[in-house]
Amino acid sequence: MSKPITKICCIGAGYVGGPTMAVIAQKCPHIQVTVVDLNQARISAWNDPDTNNIPVYEPGLSEVVAEARGRNLFFSTEVDEAIAGAEMIFISVNTPTKTYGSGKGMAADLKYIELCARQIARVSKTDKIIVEKSTLPVRTAEAVKSILQNTGNGVQFQILSNPEFLAEGTAVEDLHAPDRILIGGDTTEEGQQAIAALVEVYANWVPTDRILTTNLWSSELSKLTANAFLAQRVSSINALSELCERTGADVSEVARSIGTDSRIGPKFLNASVGFGGSCFQKDILNLVYIARSYGLQQVADYWEQVIIMNDHQKRRFATNIVRTLYNTVSGKKIAFLGWAFKKDTNDTRESAAIYVADDLLNEQANITVYDPKVGEAQIQYDLNYLATRSAEQNKELVTVITDPYETCKDAHAIAIMTEWDEFKTYDWQRIYDNMIKPAFLFDGRNVVDKKKLTDIGFKVYTIGK
Ligand code: NAD
Ligand code: UGA
Repeated sequence: MSKPITKICCIGAGYVGGPTMAVIAQKCPHIQVTVVDLNQARISAWNDPDTNNIPVYEPGLSEVVAEARGRNLFFSTEVDEAIAGAEMIFISVNTPTKTYGSGKGMAADLKYIELCARQIARVSKTDKIIVEKSTLPVRTAEAVKSILQNTGNGVQFQILSNPEFLAEGTAVEDLHAPDRILIGGDTTEEGQQAIAALVEVYANWVPTDRILTTNLWSSELSKLTANAFLAQRVSSINALSELCERTGADVSEVARSIGTDSRIGPKFLNASVGFGGSCFQKDILNLVYIARSYGLQQVADYWEQVIIMNDHQKRRFATNIVRTLYNTVSGKKIAFLGWAFKKDTNDTRESAAIYVADDLLNEQANITVYDPKVGEAQIQYDLNYLATRSAEQNKELVTVITDPYETCKDAHAIAIMTEWDEFKTYDWQRIYDNMIKPAFLFDGRNVVDKKKLTDIGFKVYTIGK
């Protein structure tokens, strides 16, 4: 029997660390959970007395935090102290694509993971179970192990891989009722005991038949594989959307027709302006890099095509806007509805909106943006990060407005970039009346009623129809 866990520390209070630990604390009142981060502003926001101001917007999350925070859920910048006191440490730091050196633009940057491992090695005085929660290249646990097992201080560490499968916008739902929990560990007796200790934590609310255990490498690779399969579905339907547009087929009808085949299934077949989010692209690039590093050229090329297709889908959306607006958008006003990479999140990382905006700005368009959860600072940051033009130019060309009707006023065209539900119920007649005519609408998410808007007078362009 493994000893029950009473104290957990999680390094990284981001989109994964925050929600995951909040739910563990909610469901396990007997376990003290401390989430630590170097980012003081983020921790302060997690500790904001008004839980509506926590840094991650997710439906239902502020209620979970309100229930557990101060009881057995704590947010802190005292990293050493939290590590020293914990029996189990989750590493949930960011693992972005490398922007320098070998593997630049492809491999995952593991410097934050290594820093965590070194910090744990330095601070620990008692035996600990280390849990990889971040998404990592297969065999990363080997490096973590090597750092932890060479301290010479006699402290014993077990390394587990426990990748997270939550999707943003539905994080709380996904954490409350996950399809599965995956735990990989060493096949030794100590490894199996560590697995059992983590299974016991999840078993407080997850049925045990949904808790899968594997060896370390299968677990690490399964996470990259799951994201690759999901992204591949989006790229597959998006590839067909272009063919639908040429042939008179309707991509929604095609998706419904194939989705009723139980082997294919109906989910994740929405054609769109392209997938975004912090992980799909990063994880596939990483998979491609790993395959190439083993000399598996065909495997690498196969998965790389998912990214190539996605880039094409984003670009052709922008190109279609320019072409439809009589081959020039210079000085024209294009209103963006939505900036987040999907609805019900304030996360904008790798959002298709950023790249479509960048293409249109290169054509000297003026852009106004409205997103219910994303503010001006983030939008300017996202554009500046691309370094295509100066921050002053971006500020001059892009205006962020908090009212959707004002955003669309006097626009030549509207581009719907995120599938926020509220877009469906706008007073579209009022929007039409205040636009320059002909009033174009490019629906990158197939959310509006095309017939209704066409009847109002809009020239509507959707994906795959
Ligand atoms: P994030 O950038 O939102 O959060 C990471 C946090 O870690 C940051 O706040 C950063 O300050 C902190 N951090 C980095 N190094 C640190 C250190 N040495 N000590 C203390 N804090 C440190 O990232 P995220 O979206 O939460 O993703 C984290 C990991 O989870 C990634 O590997 C990602 O691929 C994976 N993942 C993300 C999602 C998602 O929906 N975002 C889902 C599943 C898996
Ligand atoms: C995705 C996975 O769904 C999670 O299981 C995984 O844990 C996570 O990545 C991760 O590792 O970070 P997430 O990126 O939060 O979750 O959101 P998704 O719902 O997967 O959407 C990703 C992108 O694909 C969004 O831009 C979305 O709009 C787009 N998408 C999704 C489509 O264009 N069409 C679809 O049918 C589905």
